[in-house]
Order: sequence, then C-alpha cells, then structure tokens
Amino acid sequence: MMGKEVNVGVIGGGLMGREVASAFGRWFVINDSNVMPRLRAVADLNPDALEWFRQVPGVDLLTSDYNELLDDGGIDVVYVAVPHNLHAQIYLDVLAAGKDLLAEKPFGIDLAAARQIASAGEASGRFVRCSSEFPFFPGAQRVVNAAQSGELGRILEVRAGFHHSSDLDPDKAANWKRQSATCGDIGVMGDLGMHVCHVPFRLGWFPKSVYAQLQRGYAERPGGSCDTWDNALLHTWVECGQEEDVPMRLEMKRMAPGETDSWFIEVLGTDGGARFNTKQPRTLWLFSRGTEQQWQRVDLGFSTPFKTITGGIFEPGFPDILMQMWAAFLVEREGELDGRFGCVTPTEAIASQRLFAAALQSQEKNKAVELNWT
Ligand SMILES: NC(=O)c1ccc[n+]([C@@H]2O[C@H](COP(=O)([O-])OP(=O)(O)OC[C@H]3O[C@@H](n4cnc5c(N)ncnc54)[C@H](O)[C@@H]3O)[C@@H](O)[C@H]2O)c1
Repeated sequence: MMGKEVNVGVIGGGLMGREVASAFGRWFVINDSNVMPRLRAVADLNPDALEWFRQVPGVDLLTSDYNELLDDGGIDVVYVAVPHNLHAQIYLDVLAAGKDLLAEKPFGIDLAAARQIASAGEASGRFVRCSSEFPFFPGAQRVVNAAQSGELGRILEVRAGFHHSSDLDPDKAANWKRQSATCGDIGVMGDLGMHVCHVPFRLGWFPKSVYAQLQRGYAERPGGSCDTWDNALLHTWVECGQEEDVPMRLEMKRMAPGETDSWFIEVLGTDGGARFNTKQPRTLWLFSRGTEQQWQRVDLGFSTPFKTITGGIFEPGFPDILMQMWAAFLVEREGELDGRFGCVTPTEAIASQRLFAAALQSQEKNKAVELNWT
C-alpha cells in the first residue's frame, strides 16, 4: 500500500548508508507503515562509495559535498552515517538546514557533543532520533513485554550485551573505529553501547552506579596503531520499581571468541524470566517457576512490530529489523507510533554517553562511580 512519500538523503554511503538503500528498495514488504520513504540523494567523500549508488533507482543527487544535499529543498529527512568525530558538525548542519535527522550512534564523539546535538535538535524543533535496530527483533520485543508485564516476580538480574569477534584477527587492518581520535575515547562503548542501552533505558533502568572493566585490543595493526577500548563490562545497579536495587551487567565486546554479531538481553525474576539472543533469531526463551524449574523454548517466527508480507513462519534477519527501525522512525515522525517501540531518543542517547563517561572514570580509579538522574 502506497503511503505518504518522504524524501531521504544519506550522508555517508559506507556500510550503513548502503543498508538504507536496501531497506527502502523493498519497502513494499511492510504493510502498515503509511509512509513511503524514497532515497533521493547521497553525499560521500569517496567517489567509489558514491558510484555504488548509481544502481539505486530514484537517487538523483550524488555529491561529495554534503552541503549540496542539505541545500536541496526537496529532502525531508537526512540519515548520517559517518565516523564519530564528524557527528557533531554534520548533525548540527542538518538541523540548521531545517531537516529531520536520523543520527547514528553514539550521537557525537563524547558527552559534550551529544549534549550539543540534543540542544540544537530541541531548539530547531526538528524530529531527531538515533539508530539502534536490534530491539526491533520480535524476540527482543517479547523480552520487553515480559519485563513490563509484572509477571516476573522480583527482578533479580538483568544482562544485556553485544558481542563481536571483529577484532580477534590481528591481521585485520586499522581503521577509524579502532582509533580514539575518530571513534572516541569511549571506544567499543561508542561503537556497540547504544544498542545495548536502548532496551534497558526504555524500560526506565538507568544505572545508579557503574563499575567498569575495560580492555584494549591489539596496539598495532596493518596500516597503523590502535588505541581504543575493545571490550567493556559495565557492572551497574538499577532501580526496577521494587524495594531492592538490581544488578544489571552491560557487555560490549569486539573481542568475543565465537561471536560474529550477537545482541542479547536477559531479564531474570523470582517467578519468571525471558531471554533472547540474535544468534537464534526465531527463538525466545521463557522461564517459569513451578514444581520443576523450566526454561521453555518458543519458536517465534516473523512477528515484527510492523506487519509485513513475509510469512509468519520465517526467521527475521538484520535487513528486516533495519526496515522495522526505519518504519518506527518514519511513523513516529508522523505522530502515529501508537504505543509501538520507538528509536533511541536524544535524551536516551545523552544518558548512554553519561554512563560511558562514568565508565571511563571508573576504569581510571578502579572504583564504582555514582550517577544521579534527577
Ligand atoms: N546501526 C548499526 O548497526 C551500525 C552499524 C555500523 C556502524 N554504525 C554507525 O554508522 C556510522 C558510520 O559507520 P559505518 O560502519 O557505516 O562506517 P564506514 O566507514 O563504512 O562509512 C562511513 C562513510 O562516511 C564517509 N564520509 C566520511 N567523511 C565524510 C564527509 N565529510 N561527508 C560525507 N561522507 C563522509 C566515508 O567516505 C564512508 O564512506 C558510525 O556512527 C557507526 O557507529 C551503525
């Protein structure tokens, strides 16, 4: 069903920029979004990156100067996927041009940048959200529902994480994600942390304190030296609306043996529990306490938040949930989210940067650091 057309421009046509072209190219898969995004313009400094978009129907502006894209009065929404050191300047320019913004994580290279972007967004009145697609897996949504149901009893423990093995290979070349100047001092937390915080923060679980264990990867790689944190374990205490605070462990790793791209969340209570890992994209694990201890494996299929033509028995993957995230962004922009799960807000993005800044302090002092959210 054709919906309202929304013209989108992409700044940064790398890994993520190309995924947008793919998501919009088969938008007819979604039945109930009421919007029809069109990729109209792409800006990238790299001519090869731009060249790739020549095959994408409907793209009528390819430019190395993103200001040219921003000057195009026909563009409604801009998605920016560039290295972290460029976030603040480009996001501010997008807002100053009067466009709505789907930003990439970590929403600026550090806390100060995130605050600056959020303030500019608020002052501009534009619609601003940040990308984080994994919670749009049906299994992740079911964990959210279970956590909100009140049926888990006293919540005992929360664990959320994102594990990659991208840095295990010492022969992999150095790139901007492995250097603090371009990735940020928060390293892997900036790379993977927003994905991990999205669901806990949406559930209202903001850490009252954090004790961080950070580990670096290889200092030298082909093509240059690397200095970023590669693995982060954040041991936190959260308030979950009950008398006792709850331990919540957030894990972000680029050196996790055996894991190519595993996003997971687990909430355990005295009466019930729920667990989902993208390693098994169709599988939800539910715990219930009875006369016998029992984990039940539920075969979920394709029950995505926005309904699709895809048969309910099939398993969802990364391109599917990226579409779901875009649908949530575009539909919320129209004011029609109607209680469905939304993209990361600027407030949540700042909260994640506050947590990561505290984690850096914790690592330095080898002590827990308190966070005050009032
Ligand atoms: N949501 C996700 O799952 C996900 C996954 C990977 C990366 N990301 C985020 O996306 C962003 C980009 O990461 P990536 O992996 O796509 O990086 P990438 O290196 O593959 O692509 C970045 C692109 O930006 C271009 N670029 C650099 N400076 C530019 C400028 N001034 N104007 C226009 N283009 C410019 C580069 O030429 C490159 O093509 C980062 O913020 C990263 O954290 C998100």
